[in-house]
Amino acid sequence: MVEHIEKDKLQTNIRYRFDYFSKFINFTSEDINALNTLAVAALPRIPVIVDGAYRKLFQCDITKHYFVIQNDKFDGSTTAKEKLSLDSAQMVYRKDMLSGYLKRLLLQREWTDEFLEYLSCVGRKHTNKMGASSIDVDYIHINATLTYIENLLTEVIFSHEKFDDHTKKNISLALNKVFRIQSDLFLMHYLDTSTNLISTPTSMHKHEKCICS
Ligand code: HEM
Repeated sequence: MVEHIEKDKLQTNIRYRFDYFSKFINFTSEDINALNTLAVAALPRIPVIVDGAYRKLFQCDITKHYFVIQNDKFDGSTTAKEKLSLDSAQMVYRKDMLSGYLKRLLLQREWTDEFLEYLSCVGRKHTNKMGASSIDVDYIHINATLTYIENLLTEVIFSHEKFDDHTKKNISLALNKVFRIQSDLFLMHYLDTSTNLISTPTSMHKHEKCICS
């Protein structure tokens, strides 16, 4: 029996897209439990992981300039470019945003529509392909950052003494799945606009923050 999947609906309905994708990769409540287990070990490490990710993003001009552009808008001064450092108030704020995101990703128990919308919003925020954002980060940097963070979290799994081999395996599989799901919810917004029908909610302003209560 072949299951019918509606191509258009994959582009227009986040829940439908997530259900299809998660069923394909077998992302289940057991994976969510595994991520919740990882949270216990990973939460104290999140400041270090986030710091590492931003250090990476500041190593090359091609990634650093996205923050400089945003900072120039925020600061409004011509010297903002020279002044921006990892410790600048704006960067501390951005680190907090990434920390909050990672905590939520690991701690979330119910993958509600609101949570899926939050993950999708984080993706949408990074590209202006749909006219939905004030920033426009090329996907190569997103993919690199996702990989970098996933690897740091994998190191947490394997360095945690209290996890036995079976737990390590389950958490590693769950971690890989969750990052592929997030990657898909980034890519969805990077697709050709002629085929991607998911638009910015009309109520959402370009500078509005992604929230999930
Ligand atoms: C693992 C991949 C990434 C994740 C999970 C992530 C997550 C986030 C989150 C949660 C926000 C806040 C969204 C909001 O406004 O509510 C944000 C904003 C932002 N991100 Fe990312 N990000 C990623 C990769 C990148 C990369 C690679 C760049 C640039 C090289 C980047 C640049 C920015 C900028 C410029 C903002 C806006 C900050 C502001 O409002 O001033 N992000 N990101």
